[in-house]
Amino acid sequence: MLAALPELAVELEQGVSLARVTCLGIGGRTDLLRIGRHAAIPDLVNLLHGGGIAHKFLGGGSNLLVADEELPFVVMQLCKPEPEVAVEGNTANVDAAADLGRTVTFCAKRNLGGMEGLIGVPGTVGGALRMNAGAYGTQIGSYVREVRVYRAGERKIETLKGDQISFEYRHTSFGPNDMMLSVKLELPTKPYEEIIKGIRICNEKRRSSQPLGQKSAGCIFKNPPGASAGRMIDELGLKGFSVGEARVSDRHANFFINSGQACAADMLALIANVREQLHAAYGVNLENEVVVWNG
Ligand code: EPU
Repeated sequence: MLAALPELAVELEQGVSLARVTCLGIGGRTDLLRIGRHAAIPDLVNLLHGGGIAHKFLGGGSNLLVADEELPFVVMQLCKPEPEVAVEGNTANVDAAADLGRTVTFCAKRNLGGMEGLIGVPGTVGGALRMNAGAYGTQIGSYVREVRVYRAGERKIETLKGDQISFEYRHTSFGPNDMMLSVKLELPTKPYEEIIKGIRICNEKRRSSQPLGQKSAGCIFKNPPGASAGRMIDELGLKGFSVGEARVSDRHANFFINSGQACAADMLALIANVREQLHAAYGVNLENEVVVWNG
């Protein structure tokens, strides 16, 4: 299998610690396959299937909790192309590997706005698309006109129109076997100065309420309808509560921090414990926002 990789423009890095490529800084080791050319993906996946090698798709690793120790699957990740974004009128053609924040500012410089609220959301455009990332009243799904996706179930690349995809709160109709490749976003024209003003306001709100600069996966739980998981966890006095070096943030209680060398087992135990306490106190069953890759 290895011999075929250069031909497919796939670069193999063996024994990569996923703690290095996730924002939580947690995760065991496996081989990382970096994909330089979208068109090669069906052949690569066929090769992996042929070899009986389990595999997963990695975006920016910002909303991901990966199991400890040796992982029983390899990981595929898209390389960032140059340029990551190309603008034509009000349409931005964005590669799924592009950084979300850089895409927002790139478009702003071309007087295309709407996505100001997404400025501080870490991760790639592909990752944001898959979960319909949102903040401050904006969600990426509102701007999607077309998505190119590799559908592992059917082993082929497809182009979906925006109205063929459902975007809900932190949820989309994409399946676990869909790998985002690129997206066409249609954005409203807005003067750069106005966009920058909106970006500054969102940055300020985020800085004042979220633990930026610490290792986290953003919010751990989705909000239940009409309520804030962070506020409920806070009301139970759980800020600072920890299991090993996994800790509920003192700043925003729906952010769980790796405060040193936390392992996945610690983080999973903290998540389970907080979920149980919320269930006991409020009768709600919180759903994970963080994606968990078990070993
Ligand atoms: N609150 C507390 N204590 C806390 C956290 C929040 O009392 O520890 C209160 C706040 O004071 C506020 C209310 O709860 O009155 C809501 O808080 P916030 O505005 O921070 O919103 P959130 O519902 O906790 C959501 C998203 C965030 C997003 C912000 C801003 C989810 C799960 N979280 O948080 O998204 O940045 O709104 O739009 O939907 C993420 O998805 O990873 C994420 C960080």
